[in-house]
Amino acid sequence: MKPESNQREIVWHYATVTRQRREQLNSHKAAAVWFTGLSGAGKSTLAHAVEEELHRLGCRTFVFDGDNVRHGLCSDLSFSVDDRSENIRRIGEMAKLFVEAGVIALTAFISPLRADRARVRRLIGDADFIEVHVKCPVAVCESRDVKGVYQKARAGLIKEFTGISSPYEEPEHPDLVVDTAQETLAESVDKVLALLRRRAVIEKP
Ligand code: ADX
Repeated sequence: MKPESNQREIVWHYATVTRQRREQLNSHKAAAVWFTGLSGAGKSTLAHAVEEELHRLGCRTFVFDGDNVRHGLCSDLSFSVDDRSENIRRIGEMAKLFVEAGVIALTAFISPLRADRARVRRLIGDADFIEVHVKCPVAVCESRDVKGVYQKARAGLIKEFTGISSPYEEPEHPDLVVDTAQETLAESVDKVLALLRRRAVIEKP
């Protein structure tokens, strides 16, 4: 479908190599698997572990990771509410392109606001958007504090820190919830893989 644009002089080119043809070549469907949760909840760890498993199965994948993307594509953005929204908008657009390219795109961003995640769901479409709530109590994330960011946030060195001084809105209707305080990584990976099979992104074993 031709996208909306306010740039009337820009002509939309239609590819002859379509998403369907790429998916046929790949022998799996494309999708955006959107991991959301607090810093330290385990989004990146889980996204990379799921990617490892999908790669082993012969799937084309890519992980977008908050900390990495904020060094490049989104290096101009802060953690204000507006900049976080812009961060998520850009990642959403990027993930959509990867889905068009036939890839299983896995994203690991706090993405704290429901409205921002809902906008990405609308952009990518219900059929291709899989929201995974990586659930973990803030106290557990803080006790892990792998990057030392909670300590800095408590000391007032990081302002507007999610879960401490900036909100995290839990998903109301996620496609999947994994509880990293209760489950092992292997169990969480299995749940995501099972969902991808149910959604026919990958074939049943
Ligand atoms: S998001 O809110 O815009 O989705 P994103 O996932 O890109 O956030 O980046 C989160 C990472 O940035 C955290 O894991 C943490 O290491 C770091 N960070 C730095 N400042 C903040 C802050 N104020 N709030 C949350 N995370 C922060």
